Order: sequence, then C-alpha cells, then structure tokens
Amino acid sequence: MCSNWPEPWNRHNRRFHPNIDDNPAASVNTPRMNHPIIRFDHATFGFPGTIALEDITLSIPESEFVGVIGPNGSGKTTLCRAVLGLMAPLRGTLRVLDCACEELRCHHRALIGYLPQKGMLDRNFPVTVLEAVMMGRYGALGLFRRPSGKDRDIARQALTQVGMDHHRDSALGALSGGQQQRVFIARALAQQPRILLLDEPTTGLDLTAQHSVVELIQQLHQQLKLTILMITHDINMIRSRVDRLVLLKTKLFAAGPPQEVLQPDILSQVYGKELVITDKDFVIVEDYHHH
Ligand SMILES: Nc1ncnc2c1ncn2[C@@H]1O[C@H](COP(=O)(O)OP(=O)(O)O)[C@@H](O)[C@H]1O
Ligand SMILES: [Mg+2]
Repeated sequence: MCSNWPEPWNRHNRRFHPNIDDNPAASVNTPRMNHPIIRFDHATFGFPGTIALEDITLSIPESEFVGVIGPNGSGKTTLCRAVLGLMAPLRGTLRVLDCACEELRCHHRALIGYLPQKGMLDRNFPVTVLEAVMMGRYGALGLFRRPSGKDRDIARQALTQVGMDHHRDSALGALSGGQQQRVFIARALAQQPRILLLDEPTTGLDLTAQHSVVELIQQLHQQLKLTILMITHDINMIRSRVDRLVLLKTKLFAAGPPQEVLQPDILSQVYGKELVITDKDFVIVEDYHHH
C-alpha cells in the first residue's frame, strides 16, 4: 500500500469537482502544472515470450492532454494497463501520482478513470444508465460501503458533464454507440479521477459520433484539468486538440507537440505502407476495426 494516501485524494476531489464541493474557495485552485503525474523511466513491460513496451522514458505533467498513437500491437493498451498498475515493469520504473506501488489494491488506482477498448465492456448488461455510472463509485467506496445519496449526486453530476443526465433511467443497451461512450466516460468521471485513460474511445462510432466524443473529451480536459491519455488511430481528429502526441511501436518513437511528431519521415518509419499522406491529412489504410 502507498504511504501518501489519503491526503491528495481529498484535496484533488474538491479541486476537480467544484459544483459538488462544500468549500467554494478550493475550486479556484489550479493544478500544479508541469509536475509529472506519470513517469516512466527506462521501463519495459511484457508478457511471457513478448516484450510489449521496451525502454520507455516519458514524463507526463499534471493536466496534460496526450494522444497516444501507433500501429496495432505497438503497446498502446499495454501503456494504459501499466499506468493502471495491472502490469509491473520487467525493467526500469513507473511512478504514477508519485507512487511506484504495483499493487492493484493501491488506493491511487481509484484516482485513474479508465475507458477500456471496445469489446472489453458488456454494453448489453441489463442496467440503467445511472446504475452503470454508479459502478464508477465502487473503487472510491471500497467493497463494503453502500453507495449513499452523495454518491448518487456525484454520478448524476458526471452524467450532466457528458450531457446524458436526461437519459439516466434509460437501459444502457438501448443507447447508440456514441451515447454509450458518453456513459462510460461518465462512469470514469464518477470516480473523481485525476487521470483519465481512454483506449480508442471513438473506434466503431460513426463520423458524427466520433467528432462529438472527441469534442466532449477536449471540453472535459479544459473544464476539469484532468490529465488525459487518449489512444486513437484518428490522427487527424486529435492533432489540433492534444498538447502532445506519443508515437509507439514497442519503443517510444517520438513524443512532442503534434506538429513535431507528425513528420512524414517519422511516421513512415513506424507505419510503413499503412500510412498515406495527403496534402493536409494522414490516412492509415490498415483496417483497425478487426481488433
Ligand atoms: N494478454 C496478452 N498476452 C500475451 N501477449 C499480449 C497480451 N496482450 C497484448 N499482448 C502483446 O503485446 C503487444 C502489445 O499489445 P497491445 O498493448 O495490446 O497493443 P496495441 O494496443 O497497440 O494494439 C502485442 O505484441 C500483443 O500481441
Ligand atoms: Mg489496444
């Protein structure tokens, strides 16, 4: 278990959720910019017989919006799983929220909201929208405390933040793909996280829904000052919105402002023939939807 718990928890909960704050003065605080909230130092992660991420050195300051790109199998999901504490580094170190604790039960993990890659969540699970979002409270509650009226308020606040409160009594399975993604984002927000990990949140959505989900994520970043890692294949949609792009192919190929990372010579090294560069856009031609 980590030692620096629970002080940051209380302090930051207030800061990021001003509307449900009992102390209005706290909401005017701004996060400590430039303080690394995630720090990989020569970290290698893998599975038996496979190195999924090798020798990663990367610091992510608090409140940064980071886009993570790379071909299939390049280690993007592994990066999320590592930050969540689901995988320990084989070599090197990873510190999240100033803690190198690899224990899954570490309380810091409750401060990381996670939207898994499509197919990892059962979208037909027979629950209402509000019940699905309430599940986001369980990490904060622990296993044995029953949710209270305050937890319900937090869940409804999260639904309001994603524009879905009016759907709170609908069946989750009855919603469109884009609406379901909003609900899953609300579930992550109900944790009152400091870090939000989004693994391909737009994959499988139609173009209009993709745009509206990306706009929502950008807006949440601006309003809540969350640190966001968003994995995506849609380089064009995020290049003007993220603070920094991280390009993976087992190793960290590049990390920097989008215009620095999106250089044809860097991208062609990573994507090869899968990438077509037009006048102003990058088009990945491989079919990603089979994953
Ligand atoms: N559960 C697992 N067991 C064994 N190997 C895995 C597992 N999950 C991922 N891998 C391997 O790790 C590498 C990185 O995978 P992943 O992080 O899922 O890539 P991405 O999300 O970029 O597609 C791939 O070679 C993949 O085959
Ligand atoms: Mg993946």
